[in-house]
Amino acid sequence: MTPDISVEIAGLSFKNPILTASGTCGYGEELADIFDLSQLGGIVTKTITMKPRDGHPSPRTAEASSGMLNAIGLANVGVDKFIEEKLTYLEKFDTRVVVNVAGTCTSDYVNLCARLNDHPRADMVELNFSCPNVDVGMEIATDAKLAEETVSKVKKVFSRPVIAKLSPNVTSIADIAVACENGGADAVSLINTLVGMAVDINTFRPRLTNNTGGLSGPAIKPVALACVFKVYKAVKIPIIGIGGISNYSDVIEFFLCGASAVQIGTTLFVEPDAPVKIVKELKKYLSKNKIESIRELTGKVRIYK
Ligand SMILES: Cc1cc2nc3c(=O)[nH]c(=O)nc-3n(C[C@H](O)[C@H](O)[C@H](O)COP(=O)(O)O)c2cc1C
Repeated sequence: MTPDISVEIAGLSFKNPILTASGTCGYGEELADIFDLSQLGGIVTKTITMKPRDGHPSPRTAEASSGMLNAIGLANVGVDKFIEEKLTYLEKFDTRVVVNVAGTCTSDYVNLCARLNDHPRADMVELNFSCPNVDVGMEIATDAKLAEETVSKVKKVFSRPVIAKLSPNVTSIADIAVACENGGADAVSLINTLVGMAVDINTFRPRLTNNTGGLSGPAIKPVALACVFKVYKAVKIPIIGIGGISNYSDVIEFFLCGASAVQIGTTLFVEPDAPVKIVKELKKYLSKNKIESIRELTGKVRIYK
């Protein structure tokens, strides 16, 4: 039996459930030097904004125990150059392209998605409601009403599936997920980074020029799994799990807690070809355990009552 690792999100098929996470592989160019991007289920681009952004000055990353801190500040080429160069570059790969977008208000998201709607290579958009590293990044992520309104306005201008990317830095991530579902989101992805900080004890300076940053990597995996578990109980739309995934068993854990696909971020900095290895290992795990399709595992954690 050859196990089936294909998945479906909002009516779109993915050859496997492994996507790269936004901001951890740019627009795919560098990763394509290491492996053929067509081996990925999908690539999620660095967050795009209307105008190009330089982001925060260096240092904007720092090591943390079992993870890393970053405050890049959404450095990106802006939507015009993105469409002209980066989206065109991605055309040659047989993989799903998810374009991650952010803005300072609802109309930024709407305008960006309206532009992307004319470019079918953008298979899906992922609304980054959750960047903790810019002044206005968290407003929509923490306000259920605003999140619902933004998703619903984007749905009117973007004809393909819309994913809302959620923050763990809220009182109830499930409430925000429900609001996004009510607004018409086709899927939710979670989690973005947790707010964190590190200080140099010789200079008394924070290790990031933004003072605080976002914590990612293995350190956040238990938090991410609990978020997926809670959101799975609250919504009917598919969940894309993100946070500290570095091997196939992490992926299986996310599926059992309720994910239908996953994204890999920080691990790419340590082991850039991890997605290819994980795809192989997933097939082996399914064969060994006589599981016909990875889709059977979503939400199958056997909880204690
Ligand atoms: C250096 C870096 C840059 C990131 N930039 C973005 C970004 O531009 N947009 C976004 O939605 N998430 C961004 N993220 C968050 C990741 O997409 C992901 O949600 C988070 O890192 C958790 O996954 P991980 O533990 O596998 O890295 C970034 C993360 C890192 C480490």
